[in-house]
Amino acid sequence: MEHIKEILSDNFIGKTVSIRGWVYRIRTSGKITFIVMRDASAIIQCTASSDNLTEDAMSELSSLTVESSLELSGKLRKDPRAITGYEISISSCKIYERNENFPIARDLGEEFLLDNRHLWLRSREFTAVLKIRSTVFKAFSDFFYSNDYYQVQAPMFVSTATEGGASLFNVDYFGEKVNLTQSSQFYLETMIFSLEKVFTIAPSFRAEKSRTRRHLTEYWHAEGEVAWYNNEDMMADEEKMIKFIIDAVLKNNEEDLKIINRDINKLKNIKIPFERIKYRDLIEKSKEFGMNLKYGDDLGADEEYGIMIHFDNPIFVTDYPESLKTFYHRPDPDNPGEILCHDLLAPEGYGEVLGGGERIFDLNELLDRIKKNNLNPEDYYWYVDLRRYGSIPHSGFGLGLDRLVMWICGSANIRETIPYPRTIRRVKP
Ligand code: 4AD
Repeated sequence: MEHIKEILSDNFIGKTVSIRGWVYRIRTSGKITFIVMRDASAIIQCTASSDNLTEDAMSELSSLTVESSLELSGKLRKDPRAITGYEISISSCKIYERNENFPIARDLGEEFLLDNRHLWLRSREFTAVLKIRSTVFKAFSDFFYSNDYYQVQAPMFVSTATEGGASLFNVDYFGEKVNLTQSSQFYLETMIFSLEKVFTIAPSFRAEKSRTRRHLTEYWHAEGEVAWYNNEDMMADEEKMIKFIIDAVLKNNEEDLKIINRDINKLKNIKIPFERIKYRDLIEKSKEFGMNLKYGDDLGADEEYGIMIHFDNPIFVTDYPESLKTFYHRPDPDNPGEILCHDLLAPEGYGEVLGGGERIFDLNELLDRIKKNNLNPEDYYWYVDLRRYGSIPHSGFGLGLDRLVMWICGSANIRETIPYPRTIRRVKP
């Protein structure tokens, strides 16, 4: 039994090959039935004709419908008219399951497709996105393993908030109220004292009522934390990581990018280093794009779109005002009111895919910020302890992997990047 992709080659011409998979398309013209078969690797046209098959086999095959499962054997030949350039003349087959009506067809409503996500996943476009996503996850880990980071794991049931109480999901934990984690950052910070450079890939949960095209309530968060790094050190690793991931996708998924009609040159042209622009300068620059932003305004999906539609390469936005970020960010001692942080905004209008920066490492400064944010230092006793015992400067980041896949694939909505998107209105299937 071969995978279809392996036999799409002149080496197999004239040989009998066997494949198994699902009917992708089927039509009968005269005495010949054309069945396009798909498996995980590719698609291929197969022909059933009474020249090679019994009447029974012929009628079984010609009455198949889309997504029926079968295996078949036959001689391979080259045919430029066939969808992937080769064709199998079927000489034998075994049908596993004969479908009645596969519910997914063209031009169905979005809600219907989301309700039937478990079936819609099989589409060629979605299969291509899933393959690209798989490369992105692997490349992220590969990059950090080869740069001496350790992979670690943090809990998902937690008792603290990292990114503000408004977006916390509460869970009844044997009678106690706990939360689903918004970020593994604080736990990663605890681990740099033994491992120095750590990363994790885990879900993060946000009870955000944002109905934008880039928000999920459960998303895949790739986070890193590094002892002794400053803001610039962190950005330098991050931009190399992003370039490494894009190169891995270009190397492994060119076919998949074509299937989803991604303009590959846009990815090929991504260059490092990425430009660093201070928040205050970006606000000024946004006037060139006809935007009416003022210092202190938060940059949401719409603002970032309005800015990043004018860029072909990602940019780091640094030095945000303190009021726009959460309490753990380290204020810039040289520029009061600003913090030593960065967001990475993706081009073509995609906007923020990553946020990071230096963490406060002075005990009193942290306690002060916790109190100013109306949080209870006792809830954060273990986080505060890190500033008591061998505290050091350090930095970290969080990358939204679904948002990264969205940009790499050129998708219009983050839902198109994850098999089972969780949004305010959807937790099934
Ligand atoms: O900017 P955020 O909220 O930062 C943190 O959680 C930090 N604690 C991370 C860290 O430094 N370790 O989230 C980081 C990234 C964002 O840049 C975005 O890409 C993604 O997570 N993200 C979301 N992705 C999808 N849906 C959502 N609701 C998201 N919220 C954040």
